[in-house]
Amino acid sequence: MGAVERNCRKLKDRVGDGVELCAVVKANGYGHGAAVCAAAALRGGASRLAVAAAAEAEELRLHFPEIPILVLGALTTDELRAALAARADVAIWREGFRELCSRIAEDLGRMVRVHVKLDSGMGRLGERDPDRLIELARACVDDQRLDVAGVWTHFATADEEGDSYLGEQLAAFVPVAEAVRELAPDCVVHAANSAATLRDPATHFDMVRCGIAVYGLDPFGRDPGERDLEPALELHSYVADVKRFERGASAGYGRTWHAPEDTWVGVLPIGYGDGVRRGLSNNAEVLVGGRRYPLVGTVSMDNITVDLGPDTDVEPGAPAVLIGAQGSERILAEEIAARLDTINYEVTCGISGRVPREVID
Ligand SMILES: Cc1ncc(COP(=O)(O)O)c(C=O)c1O
Repeated sequence: MGAVERNCRKLKDRVGDGVELCAVVKANGYGHGAAVCAAAALRGGASRLAVAAAAEAEELRLHFPEIPILVLGALTTDELRAALAARADVAIWREGFRELCSRIAEDLGRMVRVHVKLDSGMGRLGERDPDRLIELARACVDDQRLDVAGVWTHFATADEEGDSYLGEQLAAFVPVAEAVRELAPDCVVHAANSAATLRDPATHFDMVRCGIAVYGLDPFGRDPGERDLEPALELHSYVADVKRFERGASAGYGRTWHAPEDTWVGVLPIGYGDGVRRGLSNNAEVLVGGRRYPLVGTVSMDNITVDLGPDTDVEPGAPAVLIGAQGSERILAEEIAARLDTINYEVTCGISGRVPREVID
């Protein structure tokens, strides 16, 4: 949790006093645990939280009665009702949705907070037409039950260094943000994810929405240390068994690995049921006793096997690290992502619910 707190403090320092940090803790805090990470982020200077789903907002509201929580995602009518009842801010980009928010606000007997969203080029949620979005904002302002709390957009290529599309999206967003701010002077203008926050101060506006960097993972897929970020998560297991393999003996389903020589094989009780993806079969390393050992054979649902070599002093019970540091060795989520041809986000989000989370303060 110290790492999350420090990462947030650095992000906050980077954006400066006038800019709020909204910590994105959707998908169980990118697999790290939403409420504990939210608490650490708030200690580190975040002043708001964001999630994707209504149930995530409801859960966080129990822990944080007063902190503004923004639901970024699309909501069904029931989900919208739940999110607004939990006093979350919601995203809005269609007239029908505005009417629904207004009706729910009437039922709740209070104003509800909406953030009008421009699709400036992400091609996902949001209104594409700038004039229609401004019209929607005007309709919200004219509606006594709605508080236009924000105007926002989301970038498609902020993590691609040297790209020019971010500039195009920014150019599309700025006039809309200015027009909405004229209509609703107190609304918060926000656009930047972690990559944009680190890459271009012009994207910061009133608030940045950082997820991946909060957890000390690099939005550009590089070593987080290069940007002074500290990974917050480690994934640990242990060696449950050590057995002698004669040359040619195979490990695991499909016999995808045969011992090239007489060797010792360690069996670790962790598998794709825990989020260790099957694509890591014969394609990863694991730390035991401060050394890297190759993951050999096919990843099973509940087990993996590692080649400990022809002579080993590793004994059953030895701690093993799949992500994190041991001795002077370290395996980053970014390394796992590269092996799987994916992104670090997917690696930590993929750690399943059955893996117990141990919070270390
Ligand atoms: C709308 C929106 N804003 C902000 C973020 C945070 O992005 P990142 O984790 O890259 O900082 C996300 C995450 O996917 C998002 O969907």
